[in-house]
Amino acid sequence: MILRNIIYYFFLYKTCLAVIRENFKECEQSSFCRRLRNLKPDQSRYILDLNNLQVSDNFLEAELLNKDENITFKFVLTALAGNIFRIYADEISPIHGRYRVQGVLDGEPQVERIKILKQDKNEVIVQSGDNKAILKSEHFQIEFYKSENLVAVVNSRGLFHIEHLRMKNTLEIKEGEDQKEEDSGAWEENFKSFHDSKPRGPEGVGMDITFPGAMRVYGLPQHADRLALRSTGPGGIGPYRFYNSDVFEYILDSTMALYGAVPVVYAHSTSNTVGAFWLNSAETWVDINNSKDQNMVSSLVNLVSGQSTENKVDVHFMSESGVVDFFILMGPSPKDCVQQYTSLTGVAPLPQYFTLGYHQSRWNYVTEDDVTAVVKNFDNYDLPLDTMWLDIEYTDGKKYFVWEPLKFGHPDQMLKNLTATGRHLVVIIDPHVKRESGYFLHEDALANDYYVKTKDGNVYEGTCWPGPSSYPDFFNPKVFNYYKNLYSQLYFENVKSDIMIWNDMNEPSVFNGPEITMPKDCLHYGGWEHRHLHNLYGFVYTAITYEGLLMRNPNKRPFILSRSHFAGSQRYAAIWTGDNDAKWEHMAASYPMCLSEALSGISFCGADIGGYFNNPDVELLQRWYQSAIWLPFFRAHAHIDARRREPFLFEKDVRNRFKNALVTRYAHLPLWYTQFYEHERFGEPVIRPLFYAYPKEIGVIDIDNQLLLGDSVLAHMISEPGQSTANVYLPGGPSTYWYDLRTFKKYNGNGFTSVSVDLDSIPVFYKGGHIIPRKDRSRRASTLTHRDPFTLYVALDSNKSAKGTLFIDDNESFDYRKKKYLYIQFEFNTDILKSSLIDDTDYDTLEWIEKIVILGAPVDVKRAVINSKSLRSVELEAYYDDSVLNIRKPGVSVREPFTIKLI
Ligand code: NOJ
Repeated sequence: MILRNIIYYFFLYKTCLAVIRENFKECEQSSFCRRLRNLKPDQSRYILDLNNLQVSDNFLEAELLNKDENITFKFVLTALAGNIFRIYADEISPIHGRYRVQGVLDGEPQVERIKILKQDKNEVIVQSGDNKAILKSEHFQIEFYKSENLVAVVNSRGLFHIEHLRMKNTLEIKEGEDQKEEDSGAWEENFKSFHDSKPRGPEGVGMDITFPGAMRVYGLPQHADRLALRSTGPGGIGPYRFYNSDVFEYILDSTMALYGAVPVVYAHSTSNTVGAFWLNSAETWVDINNSKDQNMVSSLVNLVSGQSTENKVDVHFMSESGVVDFFILMGPSPKDCVQQYTSLTGVAPLPQYFTLGYHQSRWNYVTEDDVTAVVKNFDNYDLPLDTMWLDIEYTDGKKYFVWEPLKFGHPDQMLKNLTATGRHLVVIIDPHVKRESGYFLHEDALANDYYVKTKDGNVYEGTCWPGPSSYPDFFNPKVFNYYKNLYSQLYFENVKSDIMIWNDMNEPSVFNGPEITMPKDCLHYGGWEHRHLHNLYGFVYTAITYEGLLMRNPNKRPFILSRSHFAGSQRYAAIWTGDNDAKWEHMAASYPMCLSEALSGISFCGADIGGYFNNPDVELLQRWYQSAIWLPFFRAHAHIDARRREPFLFEKDVRNRFKNALVTRYAHLPLWYTQFYEHERFGEPVIRPLFYAYPKEIGVIDIDNQLLLGDSVLAHMISEPGQSTANVYLPGGPSTYWYDLRTFKKYNGNGFTSVSVDLDSIPVFYKGGHIIPRKDRSRRASTLTHRDPFTLYVALDSNKSAKGTLFIDDNESFDYRKKKYLYIQFEFNTDILKSSLIDDTDYDTLEWIEKIVILGAPVDVKRAVINSKSLRSVELEAYYDDSVLNIRKPGVSVREPFTIKLI
C-alpha cells in the first residue's frame, strides 16, 4: 500500500498529470465541515448572559449559553488599539484544553478603552473611539458600527457553534464520526466511538459574519482563484479550504487548499471596507455568500447606479478544533483594514537589497561547474542576475545540511566564485529527515526524542524525497533550539560567506500520508495532535530558519523562501505560488494570487517564471518575464523534466526582450526597496490591487490583471498570445494623469483605455503626482549598483506637482534600526524640486543625483539652478525630448538637501 503510494506520487510528479481532485477532501468528506455547514441558519442556539456581565477598561466578559445543550462557554469582547475588536470564546473548565495558536500575533495586541453606553439584560452597547458594538443576548449577535454605520454583524445567521463532548446527541454525530477520521493513511471514517480510548472531540468551532453593504470580499490566500472571492454554496463551488497541502499541478479557479493559509477577509464597498481575521491553525473551511450572486438583476441595477445599500456578503468560518479567536478590523478604508491586520500579525522586515533582484533557479543546477557556467553566460550576454538557487540535488542523498560530495564537493569555492561577481546563493532545506543510520540529524533526533510521534507514541515515519523519513517536532522548544543551531557555521562549516535558505515541502509534505501530509492524529509537543496545529507547521519551521540565519550572522538580514505559510509568515519569509504550470492562465493567476497575499500581510510573493511544470512557448516566456518584474519576488524556476530556459539560451531579439524586462526591474530597485521599507514602517502592502488605492471607484472591484507598485506604478498583464492592443483600466478620474512608461505619453484616469502593445513590453504607467527614484545604469548584479547615481522621474499631476520618497542604507544589515539610513522626501511644485530628510538620521553614502526627468513638464524651460550647502548655486543644463524635460547632472549627493529651480 505504502509502496504503491510512493510510486504513484513519483509517477505524478514526473509525468505532470493534473491534480487528482480525489486526493483532497471536499467539505462533505471532512466530518466537522459537514456538521458545521449543515447547521440550520437563523436558529441560533446561543444566548449571551448579560445579567452577569463583567466589565473592565478594555473588555467585557460574559457567559455564553448553548440553550439546547445547557452548556456554558466563556465569551470575551476586547477593544484593541487601532480600531479592532477581538472576540474570544472557549470552554469553561474543559476536560482537555483547546489549542490556542502560538506565535502568530506579533506580540500581545495593545488594548483600547471601552465605554458602556447602555446595559440591560437584552442588550449592551459598547463604545471604543468611533466604533460601537451592540451585543444582543437573545440570539447572541453582535453588531459593529463605524461612525454609526452598521458594517458587520457577527452570528447574523446564527451559525456560531462550539462543539463539545457532551453535545453528541443533538449534533447528530454518527457513531465514531469524530476526529479519528484518518489514522491509517486514509480519511475513511473510523467507526469507533469517541468515548473509548481518547475522549477528545468533536471540537469544531464555527462563526458567521455578515457585512451589510459589501459588494466584494477579498483575501483568504492561498487559493488559485481570482482576487474577488466567489460565492460558495450548495450546487456551486465548495467552500474555500485551509489545509496546507502539497498539491501537484494545482488547478485554477479553485477553492482547494494550497500550500499556505491566511484566514483574513476584507469586505468592501465603494463607501466602506471592513475586515475579519479568524485565528485558527486547524483545518478550516470558509463559505462565502455574496448577495449579488443570488440576484443578478438587482445587483446589475446596483452596479450601474453605484448603490451599495442592497448588497451584503455573508462569510462563515468553520474549523476542526481550537478556540474562537476572531478579530474585526473596523476599517473604514482598505488601507486602514490592512494596517489593522499587520498591526496584529506584523510586517516583513526590510529585505536585503539583492533579494529584490533576479533569482535564477531550476531543479537542478547539477554541479558546481553548472552553476558557474550559468552565471558566466548571464555575464556574457550582460543579463542582470543576483542569486543562484540550488534545489534538492545539491544534498548528499537528500540529507539536508550535507553537500553531495562529488558534484558539490567545493561549496566554499563555488560560493567564492559567485560572491566575486556580486552574486548570492540560496540552498534548499526541507523539514523531512532521512532515516539513515549515521546521518547526524537522524541520529540526534532519535537520541533526543525530537521526532513527531504516532498516536501510539512511536516515531512517525512517512515518505518524502529521501524515501523513509521522519519529521522533527518543531513545536518542541528543544527541537527549535537544536535545529536553529544547524544554520550556524558548524554544518556549513567550509562555506564562509552567506547562504540564504529555501524551506520547501513544509506543509509538511508526506508522499504516502493522508492528503499528502501527516496524519492528523500524530502527536506533538504538549500532547497536541497534528490536527490542532497543522497549518502552523511550516510557519514554525521558517521561524527557526530565521533565528538560525540570525545566529549565523547577527547583522545580516536573513532571506528565506517558504512554500507553506500562515498568518504572520511575513515576519520570516517570502513565499511563492508553488508548482504552477507553463500556461498562460497560470501566469495570469500570479497577479491575483500575490495580490491576495499582499492584502493579507505577505507582500514578498512571486510565481515561478515560465511555469514550473512543462515548457512555455517563447511568447509566453517573454510575457512572463515582463509581468513578473512587477511582482515583489522575482525568480525563474522549473521542474527537473522541463527544458532549460535561462534567458541567454534564446536568439538575439528574444534575449533582448528578456534583457529589457530585467533591466527595467533593476532600474526600479530603489523604488522596490523604498516600498519594502515603507511596508515595514507603515504596514501597507508593497503591491496593491486597484480597489485598495481607489476604494470609491466601482469599476475596479473585479480587476485582477493589473497591480500597483506602491501608489506610483501601474502594471497591466498581457495574459493572452498575439495581443496588439490592451484594455487597460486607468483609475482616478479625468484629473488623474498616467504616463506610459514606454513613451511617457500622458493618459487621463478615465477607466478602460485601449493602448497598443507589441512584444517588447507590457503596458506600465507612472501616476502623475509621484516622483520615482531609479538607477538607470545597467549592471550585472544589484550589488554592483550600490554607488551608482539616481535618476528621478518626476511625473507631474494636474497641479504641476509631485512627491516621492527614497530609502537608502547599507542594503544588508540591521543598522538602519540604529538610525543609519536616509529617508528622503522629494517634492516638486510649479517650478521647484526640493529634497529633504524625513528623519533625523544619517548614512554615509556615495550615491548622487545624476539626472531629473520631468513628465508633463512646463514648457519653455531654458535651464535650471541647483542650490545646496556644498554646491551653493550651480546652473544646470535643461533640454526637452519631445514633451519630457531633462535636467542634466545635478551632481548633488542624495545625502544633501537641495532645491532645483526651473528657469
Ligand atoms: C517542490 C517545490 O514546489 C519545487 O519548487 C521544487 O523544485 C521541488 N519541490 C523539488 O525540491
